[in-house]
Amino acid sequence: MKDILQETWMIEMIRTLTNMYNHGWDERNGGNVSMLLDEGQVADCLDTGKVIRIIPTGFPVPALAGRYFLVTGTGKYFKNVQYAPEVNLGIVRITAPGDEAELLWGFSDGGQFTSEFAAHMMSHAARLEVNPDNRIYMHCHPTNLLAMTYVHELDERAFTRTLWQMCTECIVVYPDGVNILPCMVCGTNQLGLDTAEKMKTARLVIWSQHGLSGMGNTLDEAFGLIETVEKAAEVYMKIAGLPRVNTISDEILRGLAERFGLTPKEGYLS
Ligand code: 13P
Ligand code: ZN
Repeated sequence: MKDILQETWMIEMIRTLTNMYNHGWDERNGGNVSMLLDEGQVADCLDTGKVIRIIPTGFPVPALAGRYFLVTGTGKYFKNVQYAPEVNLGIVRITAPGDEAELLWGFSDGGQFTSEFAAHMMSHAARLEVNPDNRIYMHCHPTNLLAMTYVHELDERAFTRTLWQMCTECIVVYPDGVNILPCMVCGTNQLGLDTAEKMKTARLVIWSQHGLSGMGNTLDEAFGLIETVEKAAEVYMKIAGLPRVNTISDEILRGLAERFGLTPKEGYLS
């Protein structure tokens, strides 16, 4: 058996969570991340027949039956993960009806997965239909993006266009734009259902007055999406109260998409 803490995917997860904390996106226990793992990756390090305990999920996700996830624990601080991964992280396998998770490793203080597990699992199921290579769901509370949801209209086209206009890189990184949910009670199945629906058409979903979730094939991809949105939101919050003299025209935005062979969300450029 290999040492689970030396596996590349575990090291990347711990480094990414630490980095998220260092970016100021994850105060206290803010934020949560899950990574879809192959059975082989888990079997290399663990006896997959040895279930530590069963944790009810409170919702069915039959599409994910038998799938393995490395996921952050509820109430856990990202800043602490590097010092005690086995307490702050867990590896679970979703059971056949998809309404229970078998704990195979971690949560060693008796803890359990994030309170946003519904959003994670339902979004993984939804996104895998669109992109079978998706593995990551990342949620956090970036300051400028959060601030922007207080002062910018929450129309998805208008919000996306404003972000795209803050830096030429934006349309290249997220040509699919950002989808937006209103302020909702966190940790609920309803938030999970609504997020999963939104994840079908974009890899970024804003929870107004709460935070942002990004999905991708790798931790770097999900992190990079969030990082690029947060940079744009930071620029917006710096200039929002000032007269706007210049902007990035739709002609340039279209040119950027063409240059990089990308299709911007239909109807978002005039
Ligand atoms: P958890 O500690 O349960 O992951 O909750 C943090 C959070 O950001 C809720 O949206
Ligand atoms: Zn949150």
